[in-house]
Amino acid sequence: MSFATLLAIVSLAAIATAAPTAVCSDGTRVSNAVCCDFVSLGQDLQSMVLQGDCGEDAHEIIRLTFHDAVAISRKLGPSAGGGADGSMLLFPLVEPEFAASNGIDDSVNNLIPFLSLHPTISAGDLVQFAGAVALSNCPGAPRVQFLAGRPNHTIAAIDGLIPEPQDNVTSILERFDDAGGFTPFEVVSLLASHTIARADKVDPTLDAAPFDTTPFTFDSQIFLEVLLKGVGFPGLDNNTGEVSSPLPLGDTSTGGKDTGLMRLQSDFALAHDPRTACFWQGFVDQQEFMSQSFASAFAKLAVLGHNTDDLIDCSEVVPVPKPAVDKPTTFPATTGPQDLELSCLAERFPTLSVDPGAQETLIPHCSDGLENCTSVQFSGPATDSP
Ligand code: HEM
Repeated sequence: MSFATLLAIVSLAAIATAAPTAVCSDGTRVSNAVCCDFVSLGQDLQSMVLQGDCGEDAHEIIRLTFHDAVAISRKLGPSAGGGADGSMLLFPLVEPEFAASNGIDDSVNNLIPFLSLHPTISAGDLVQFAGAVALSNCPGAPRVQFLAGRPNHTIAAIDGLIPEPQDNVTSILERFDDAGGFTPFEVVSLLASHTIARADKVDPTLDAAPFDTTPFTFDSQIFLEVLLKGVGFPGLDNNTGEVSSPLPLGDTSTGGKDTGLMRLQSDFALAHDPRTACFWQGFVDQQEFMSQSFASAFAKLAVLGHNTDDLIDCSEVVPVPKPAVDKPTTFPATTGPQDLELSCLAERFPTLSVDPGAQETLIPHCSDGLENCTSVQFSGPATDSP
């Protein structure tokens, strides 16, 4: 075969296998023109809701990705719910009303306007893409996979499919298995999300009670802090789904907004159960491992109810996340190794330093360390669940 013939064959093969490219109106190159619509959606989400911040609005949308997706059941079949299908937005008077989704209405109302602003994008794609953009605002979060093409024709999910903090480990693991075959390791991986989480509804007297001391960074403090001996409650002490916290002090009684740390009963139970304790401890001070494990489990969550062969990979339009804060996990001031309550004795616990200070440090209310941060709230049809 002549060199010219060989070159022609190689060139033809190259054309056949080259990824198709399209150039979006802002110059972004993508492998499929469908992905272009998400470039402008991402810009609008940032400017109209997220503000480039890993604050309240981002946290709420990340929680919404979970509540939308997990509402599916292999046991009960398709009539129970369609998974990551945007049904939270399409039926805003149904699912957001369920007790397990108390407080989800803010994120639902914040996303509904984007359905008409970006009519080519389905509700299911909107929820999962908004979650991916929200995560990118949180230093240390992974750049998660985003597949586009969830259809809009779906049904409202039934009540009872979303885990609650008072649920025991057996029922939590069974629910995740029934929803999508998640392993106990994947369940713990998904709970890395509680590193950027605060509760508005668990204690009716507290707004934005954080689950770890660094609620604006996707770090592994949550995995350490849930293992520390509980000493008190940040507010009332008889709330369903809450157990005592190692750092309950806040300044809300003196008019400030910094509440002490809140601990969910479910996080505490997963940190100590023999099926999950070693996975939980294994994420302490393991930023990269934790972040990548979360990304894998989250990719599975985001497509529940869909055949990935029907979806188009638009991960390239997910913004690159802010880099991790270059700080190892540390015991918060006033705590230390003597406060550890470990249930996994098979693994060596890492040696960590202790933050200096004789007083419990207040956990800031806003990502800039201040007390007054604005959060965007569009009005909409969804309301607080009763
Ligand atoms: C055992 C499973 C889970 C339980 C029992 C649970 C429970 C809760 C509860 C009770 C809250 C506080 C809601 C409030 O009072 O405002 C919360 C917040 C949150 N959860 Fe979960 N969760 C679970 C899994 C997940 C997963 C898998 C994700 C995401 C992948 C997630 C993301 C979040 C986020 C980001 C928040 C903070 C929302 C905010 O700050 O407004 N959770 N969760």
